[in-house]
Amino acid sequence: MRFPVVRPRRLRATPALRRLVRETTVAPSDLVWPLFFNERLDSPLPVKTMPGVDQLPVRMAGEIARLAVKRGLGGVLLFGLPKTKDEFGTSACDPDGPVARAIAEIKSAAPELVVITDVCVDEYTSHGHCGILHTRRDGQVDVDNDRTIELLADIALMHAKAGADIVAPSDMLDGRIGTVRERLDENGFESMPVMSYAIKYASAFYGPFRDAAECAPKFGNRASYQMDPANTREALREIALDIDEGADMLIVKPALPYLDIVRRVRESTTLPIAAYNVSGEYAMLHAAAAAGMLDLDRVVLETLTSIRRAGADMILTYHALHAAELLDA
Ligand code: PBG
Repeated sequence: MRFPVVRPRRLRATPALRRLVRETTVAPSDLVWPLFFNERLDSPLPVKTMPGVDQLPVRMAGEIARLAVKRGLGGVLLFGLPKTKDEFGTSACDPDGPVARAIAEIKSAAPELVVITDVCVDEYTSHGHCGILHTRRDGQVDVDNDRTIELLADIALMHAKAGADIVAPSDMLDGRIGTVRERLDENGFESMPVMSYAIKYASAFYGPFRDAAECAPKFGNRASYQMDPANTREALREIALDIDEGADMLIVKPALPYLDIVRRVRESTTLPIAAYNVSGEYAMLHAAAAAGMLDLDRVVLETLTSIRRAGADMILTYHALHAAELLDA
């Protein structure tokens, strides 16, 4: 059968018909809103490279949490900017640090909001790398894997004690999911889910985030721990390891330049998958819209739809609040 008998346009004739046959939806509950709490601030500080995103004072956490609940968001993802940094990222374990204090504010204002914490030290190290450094046998300075994963487990435990609902290690070191899982279990947090940034590429799309979180590496890059953008099989190997070590959910990051990876991961695991629509992806749309080149509202929804269509269950996105408002309208 073919034209003129077959006419796909019949099902596109009205908004109601299009809605009826729509294959992919985006709901506010699919969206997780990343937030930056800066201990040194009394009022919001706009992030220059991310229009509409602010670093926030901890005292605003409750108010922001109520907004997230009102809009029906799936959750929030917390990053902390501490008062002090050192080469070991010591302040990341401070139970009075910005993340712990923000969790307390959020849980008293909106206890039902899902709070996910980013477990990493790059915002807390003076050199900006995602771990404690050492000099390798070949003379290169690099992140000391086995020492750092113990630190990550300490941070995850601190977040758990502070009341986080989910911890999300984002460092890409080997063995950290198992180490975090074990530390949580030994301390009575066997019910705390671990959301692994299982597949995180060494991407230039993180550029604006490093402004937002003040964590650009002072030397070198992250290529010895984050993945080579050219690799797919390695991504499947990473998820297999993390699942084996006890991950409950997986993150693919970035999202848009890696939708093929989201799809491959979707087809190879039954675990929930999140895609991180990262800072550079956010900034591109805002820059193009500000230059009059794109309709922001439409490209935001189309972008989020494409990520869901690729197979992500949820999306970590700076567009979360804006998108939820559009979806509600
Ligand atoms: C590391 C971390 C980064 C992002 C999230 N967690 C930065 C990095 O790996 O360099 C990037 C997120 C974004 O670009 O939106 N703590």
